[in-house]
Amino acid sequence: MTTIGFIGSGHIGGTVARLAVAAGYDVVLSNSRGPETLKDLVDELGAKARAATPAEAAAAGDLVVVSVPLKAYDRVPVEPLGGKPVLDTNNYYPERDGRFPRLDDASATSSELLQEHLPAAKVVKVFNNIFFKHLTALARPAGAADRTALPIAGDDTAAKETVTAFLDAIGFDAVDAGPLAESWRLQPGTPVYGAPYGGGANFWDSPGVPADAATIRTALSAATR
Ligand SMILES: NC(=O)c1ccc[n+]([C@@H]2O[C@H](COP(=O)([O-])OP(=O)(O)OC[C@H]3O[C@@H](n4cnc5c(N)ncnc54)[C@H](OP(=O)(O)O)[C@@H]3O)[C@@H](O)[C@H]2O)c1
Repeated sequence: MTTIGFIGSGHIGGTVARLAVAAGYDVVLSNSRGPETLKDLVDELGAKARAATPAEAAAAGDLVVVSVPLKAYDRVPVEPLGGKPVLDTNNYYPERDGRFPRLDDASATSSELLQEHLPAAKVVKVFNNIFFKHLTALARPAGAADRTALPIAGDDTAAKETVTAFLDAIGFDAVDAGPLAESWRLQPGTPVYGAPYGGGANFWDSPGVPADAATIRTALSAATR
């Protein structure tokens, strides 16, 4: 059975973990404060979930979700992630993360920084552009008429196929946005960031608006740097 590891189990990591358990995956959760602080989430998720250290979660996962504030990206364990698909949910918010000159001058994307930190891993950017409440609300079975698509970006074709299959299992279609160098197209401030799923002015209170693959492709194409 496929196990999903989590480095970071907050709003978005916890949401992906709930969707993964609902789809039948085992999950191993971690955070910065220690496994004992994840007891409530583990209890909620039941027998398919356990908590561990970040290094243990990285080692246990066949796929590993990294969902920490970007400022913590260089504390993600390196060695146990070698060769694995790493699902990068992270976004750059300078007011939270401090200044990263290579992101400010657009000479790198935030996912390229994580890939540099994890040279033997296969980083795929995903889940970064959707508010966690909309992610919860918009999961649908394969074939549903109102299924939502999420953009993914990565340099490794096989890892993107693995992530596409994972998304399908938890309730979403995938749209390939290209390599990590193109992942600026789904970073904060772009047309695909949040808005397609959020109902305009009512974004934060929106129950979630399904957005199909064509909508997501159009939004990615409209991005400017
Ligand atoms: N919130 C959203 O709707 C949303 C949507 C898409 C993308 N994102 C992005 O996804 C990332 C996570 O966002 P979030 O809203 O889920 O944040 P969050 O609720 O604050 O959760 C962050 C998680 O990361 C953990 N963490 C922090 N430093 C760590 C470290 N060095 N090692 C291991 N775990 C560490 C935290 O553990 P402790 O609590 O123990 O410190 C916590 O479990 C951010 O980059 C955010 O911009 C968020």
